[in-house]
Amino acid sequence: MIGGGYVGLVSGACFAEFGSDVTVVEADPGRLAALRAGAMPIYEPGLDQIVGANVRAGRLHFTDELPGALEGAEAVFIAVGTPTRRGDGHADLSYVFAAAEQVARALTGPAVIVTKSTVPVGTGRRIADIVRRARPDLDFDVASNPEFLREGSAIADFMRPDRVVIGAESERAREVLRRLYRPLYLIEAPIVFTGIETAELTKYAANAFLAMKVTFINEVADLCEKVGADVHDVARGIGLDGRIGRKFLHAGPGFGGSCFPKDTLALMRIAQDFGAPARLVETVVAVNDARKAGMATRVIAACGGSVRGKTVAVLGLTFKPETDDMRDAPSIPILWRLAEDGAEIRAFDPEGMAQARPLLPASVAYCRDALDAAAGAHALVLITEWNEFRALAPERLASAMRGRVVVDLRNVYDPSAMREAGFDYHGVGRPAR
Ligand SMILES: NC(=O)c1ccc[n+]([C@@H]2O[C@H](COP(=O)([O-])OP(=O)(O)OC[C@H]3O[C@@H](n4cnc5c(N)ncnc54)[C@H](O)[C@@H]3O)[C@@H](O)[C@H]2O)c1
Repeated sequence: MIGGGYVGLVSGACFAEFGSDVTVVEADPGRLAALRAGAMPIYEPGLDQIVGANVRAGRLHFTDELPGALEGAEAVFIAVGTPTRRGDGHADLSYVFAAAEQVARALTGPAVIVTKSTVPVGTGRRIADIVRRARPDLDFDVASNPEFLREGSAIADFMRPDRVVIGAESERAREVLRRLYRPLYLIEAPIVFTGIETAELTKYAANAFLAMKVTFINEVADLCEKVGADVHDVARGIGLDGRIGRKFLHAGPGFGGSCFPKDTLALMRIAQDFGAPARLVETVVAVNDARKAGMATRVIAACGGSVRGKTVAVLGLTFKPETDDMRDAPSIPILWRLAEDGAEIRAFDPEGMAQARPLLPASVAYCRDALDAAAGAHALVLITEWNEFRALAPERLASAMRGRVVVDLRNVYDPSAMREAGFDYHGVGRPAR
């Protein structure tokens, strides 16, 4: 497994749990040292147990030495990052191609080189070209096996996936991957075999569709606010329709994270390059960017038009709960704007504060817990819906805070309970009273 980030580490540990012998190759010395010391470089529930158990069982190893890791390997997964390339929105494939080149030079026996990273259509073939050029003698196949796990429930998603997509063109590649995923046949998880381009595109299409669903309900939320409707009920009313489904219909501050922003942008560029512009996806990107940028305005309006000299408590910084991932989190533009407008910010996040610190204004004060953040605050803004914030009693918040403004960007609180406790409560897409 080349790359020991979210996807490489989780996939590697889960393949080991399935019974395979896995070596994770990680280039970052800090990450590697942590992994070797049994410390998880990322926060993901249950990951330390599954990693620890498989290391002890001798099925999971960590190294930075490629040749040893590749010895006897039947499958080599590339699970390195594919961030947005600076300037143009395309996926940056430099890590993928560098890994392919290194793998080509170090491989000795026949192997299947599998792309697990999310990569644009055509990347599998470019990897095959790179490998062929570097090692004309090598017996290899390429395959695409995009990963659909969600941060925060990555292990369950990997062990009990809705489906596995495998793009491969040779029977040997299909056979190796079928064997790796055999435990999933027992639980009847669907395995969809496709061509390589189809598998590559399937991953982008899945993420773009989910991003579109989130963006759709966010726009409906804006309309709800204008007409006095409640987006929570609209979402339930449409989501119970089996053709629509209830998931990803939660109005909020706009999507962030390590995948949706970069994958929608990359799909938009791929579609433009191939002369089939994805107009819906282009609109999703624009609407979401505007939404994230505009969220602070909502907070400022709730504070009476200015936050200058006011203390604002912020609950939740990560892009979603149960992760410490801050990539493209909506909290980033919100906190910068509030700080620029003169707010004093007291923030708390259960897992993300270390990752958040370098990305947020230096003036932000990091607190012990939610009530500590709320202490003396004029307004409270909930940005990420960690479970522990749901349970906060309005009365306790009221006695900790100086002011009474609550801006709940995830609709976790009961508006009437908050108003009964004396709060000036602002949800997303919910009637003002
Ligand atoms: N994070 C997710 O939830 C998720 C879900 C599905 C798919 N993906 C996709 O999976 C890919 C990886 O994402 P991630 O979040 O795990 O990224 P990440 O940045 O957390 O991890 C990538 C790791 O690869 C290492 N690396 C880079 N080049 C290397 C090399 N040549 N040799 C060894 N190690 C190397 C880096 O040091 C880093 O630790 C991306 O394409 C992403 O789009 C991510």
